[in-house]
Amino acid sequence: MNEKKLVGETAVDYVKEGMVLGLGTGSTVSYTIAKLGRLVQQGFSIKGVPSSVKTEKLALEAGIPLAPLDQIEQIDLAIDGADEVDLNFNLIKGGGGALLREKIIAKAAKSFIVVADSRKIVKKLGTFPLPVEVVPFGLRMTIKGIQDLGLSPEIRQIKGALYKTDNGNNIVDCKLPEKINLEHLEQNLNSIPGVVDNGLFIGMADTVMTVNNEKHIVVNVRK
Ligand code: 5RP
Repeated sequence: MNEKKLVGETAVDYVKEGMVLGLGTGSTVSYTIAKLGRLVQQGFSIKGVPSSVKTEKLALEAGIPLAPLDQIEQIDLAIDGADEVDLNFNLIKGGGGALLREKIIAKAAKSFIVVADSRKIVKKLGTFPLPVEVVPFGLRMTIKGIQDLGLSPEIRQIKGALYKTDNGNNIVDCKLPEKINLEHLEQNLNSIPGVVDNGLFIGMADTVMTVNNEKHIVVNVRK
């Protein structure tokens, strides 16, 4: 069974006619977008705010009407994937490099649903290296600042070239130390001048949708 397809498509059950939707990035949410597209073809009215150039293209191909965030008063619901989800609804995101726009959209949304296959659910965040978006200027100094926080950063490369985000920045993937306070880490990283944002989403997710051992959908709602 394709767990990504199952959770990605099930999230559409939470979408109501007329909603403005934050559309995340990645293979899981691509199933959400495809299903939404099929509903739009049948006359269902929604508006999407894409979190990346990739998602924008996918949503347009699916026929979903889009709007830029600056033309929207409020996002009703954001749906996005994650690289890791802990039992307190905290996330590591940014494996696909879209963490900054994803975080802006999640913050702007009244409600945020995370769609995650069972392999993403962890007791403790940190096996997946934490993506940090950094400006190209002064990259070495910024990386040193990250190292000084006790992280092991590695600059992301694609085919030998530095990876570029949709915002023209770079990504540094960081191995976390065994023991670290995630709330402090999120703030400390963002106080380094060259850091734009990081992939820790602390206390942002309202609902986590995943799949249990019996291959049934499980929906956990934060109290
Ligand atoms: C992109 C992300 C994605 O949500 C995350 O990488 C999960 O992707 P996938 O659904 O392909 O496993 O944070 O920046």
